[in-house]
Parts: sequence; structure tokens; C-alpha cells
Amino acid sequence: MSIPIQRWLQERRDGVEQTPENIQAFVNAVVREEITSAQSAAWLAFVLTRGMTAKETLALTEAMTQSGTSLSWPGISGPFVDKHSTGGVGDKVSLALAPLWASLGFRVPMLSGRGLGITGGTLDKLESIPGYRTSVASEDLQRILADVGCFIVGQTEDIAPADRILYALRNETGTVPSIPLITASILSKKLVEGLDRLVLDVKYGTGAFMKTKKDAQNLADSLVAVGAGAGVETTAQLTPMIQPLGEAVGNALEVEEAVACLQGEGPQDFRDLVVALSGEGARAEAALDSGRAFEKWVAMVEAQGGQLCAPRKGGGCSEWVLESTADGTLSSCDAGLLGQAAFDLGAGRSRAGERVHFGVGLRVHAKVGDAVCVGQPLVTLVHDQKGLERAQELARSAFTFAS
Ligand code: URA
Repeated sequence: MSIPIQRWLQERRDGVEQTPENIQAFVNAVVREEITSAQSAAWLAFVLTRGMTAKETLALTEAMTQSGTSLSWPGISGPFVDKHSTGGVGDKVSLALAPLWASLGFRVPMLSGRGLGITGGTLDKLESIPGYRTSVASEDLQRILADVGCFIVGQTEDIAPADRILYALRNETGTVPSIPLITASILSKKLVEGLDRLVLDVKYGTGAFMKTKKDAQNLADSLVAVGAGAGVETTAQLTPMIQPLGEAVGNALEVEEAVACLQGEGPQDFRDLVVALSGEGARAEAALDSGRAFEKWVAMVEAQGGQLCAPRKGGGCSEWVLESTADGTLSSCDAGLLGQAAFDLGAGRSRAGERVHFGVGLRVHAKVGDAVCVGQPLVTLVHDQKGLERAQELARSAFTFAS
């Protein structure tokens, strides 16, 4: 069945809102390949330039969510919660937050993705643990959620297939930066999880997808409105990404830092963000300090086949330390440049399907506002020679000082 895309776009130009039925028909046609790529691309370009109303964005999100399988948790009591971050340099929050929430009695059915760009995604980080399975049979997911309280696995092919098709087309046609399209893309993959509550961490700055606070606020507003419209209690926090989160950037290095946090240690800025996103304040602090959150981490990783006592993948790397050549106050520690340095060392991927190097990355030793003196270590690059020279250059240019 072909759909009258040209007529719909003309009606929209004339000020008529697209109906949920038409939007649903468009999404169905995309998934069933009943529409040409040229027509879909025209529709996407139209949305990029003209935008969508809140009602249209909700209809698109719901149609994309329903384009594939949804998960349900019969016999397991909630509340079911999850978080999504728009991604940043050194952002390993999911690794700590899922077990933390589980230790507080929440159920966390976390579907996550691989990274594309400067560093790996949550799944890449977890796969640095030998044996960790990111693909788990659905009966086992039910059991892990009931027994442990959380899991972190990958999205399967049958989760929101409309997003996979449309995202590839958006990439090809330069239509990624549209707030309604981003909203529907992010939420369609979260609403399948059967959640009661969703927490969003929308980052802005040099190391983030959204470069300005204003754009991040617009995205956050759209995500919160559509999430709530779909019946999930949705909150968003805006977080600056001008310097890396915590100290570690890189897959295995970030796992180490998340484990430290779960044991009540590690960098304060990372811990503060984990606690803030949990929404549980003093209860969350106590679960981190008492080891209860760490127990859930161990249980989750073991339930997914991970061997925590085995050495992380990607070991045997060398280290190079950048020292300060000035006395003064650190005025910038550019997350974008340091993320690019980690990428050049091999921590990220430029194309879907590419392998990441689990061991490489960097550790940042100073935060913006710190007083530093000549000879003080600023950053350690963990490398296997590949990309080292370029990463050194990037690291040198990432730090500036005020005297
Ligand atoms: N992340 C997503 O999942 N989708 C987008 O469109 C942008 C970021």
C-alpha cells in the first residue's frame, strides 16, 4: 500500500497537524519497506526544517516504539526505572546507577547501545569484562530482573526497528539534529522497557552531542513532555560536559572507576552525578558506602557471565604522562579534545561494527579550578602506540591556565 506523502506534506505546509494515524502509517510503511528512501528522506527533511508539534512528536514516538517488540515483566513487582544519557566523555554513570538503584529496591531493565564516535558506549565498557554477555535470552532477563534487580544488555533487532531504519537515513541525509526526531529516537528505545520512571541526563558542552545549554534545554523539555505523554514519569537533568566526567576515559578504565564508585570511592564529581540522577540522596550515598550497591554489581555481572576476577580485556598497554609546564589555575580541560585523544588511541569507533580497543584511554588528574604547578601530572594516556602522537598533541592543547 503506498501512502500519499506529498499530499500530507502539503497539508502540513497549509497548517494542518499530521494526525497520529498518518504518522503511524508512515512509520509502518518505513518498516515494511512500502515507501521509497526518497520519500522517507523528504519527510525527514520536512520535519528538520518545519519541526513537529508536541502532539505529532508523541505520535511519532509511540509509532516507533510499537514498530517492534516491547518487554513486560509479569510477576515482578516494580517500580521499573531507567536512565538515558545523551552521552559525554567519561560518562560511565549507567554502570554504577543500575546496581545502585537495584540495591535500593528498584528494578532496572536497562537496554543500552554501543558507542559511535569518540568513546565506547555502555556495552563496549561492559564487554571489557571477560565473559560478559550483552545478549541474554528473554527468560534469563526475567530471572535476572527478579533475582538481582537489574541487567544491562543490548537492544535486539526487534526493538524499535523503525528507529534503526530512520536513524541510518538521518545520518545519510543530514537530518540528525532535529529535536522531534532525536526525541522519538531516544524515547522509542526506552519506552519498550515497560518503565514507571525514566531519568534523562542531557549534556551540553564541547564533549557533548548538544553544544549549547539552550539546545540541551530544548531537547530536555521535549523528552520530558513526550515521556510524560506516553505515561512514564520522566525527569531530566542538564549537565555540563566541558571537562570529562570523573578521571577515566576509555572502556576498561571506566569500568574500574565505576567499581570504585560502587565501593564508596572514586572521583567526587562522578559520585555526585550518580547520586543526583538516582533521586535518592542520602539513601543512595549509604548504599554506595556500605557496599550494598557493589554487591548488586557483582551479582549482575556474574548473572550475565562476566568474570570479575579475570584481568580486563585489552591489558598490557603503556602509559605516557603529560605534566604541567606552568604554575596557575586550570581554566580549561577540554572534554571534546580529550575525547578525541581517547578515540585516536582506539577507545571509540568511527563506523558501526568496528572493534574498539578495551584497554586504551586516559586518566585526567586535574579539574577546572584546581591550582597546579610545574611538573604536576595533568593526564596519563594509556596506549598501545597507535595514534599516540596525535593524542599527545590533543592532550597538550586541551589544558589552559590562568596565572
Ligand atoms: N541518540 C539516539 O538514540 N538518537 C538520536 O537521534 C540521537 C542520539
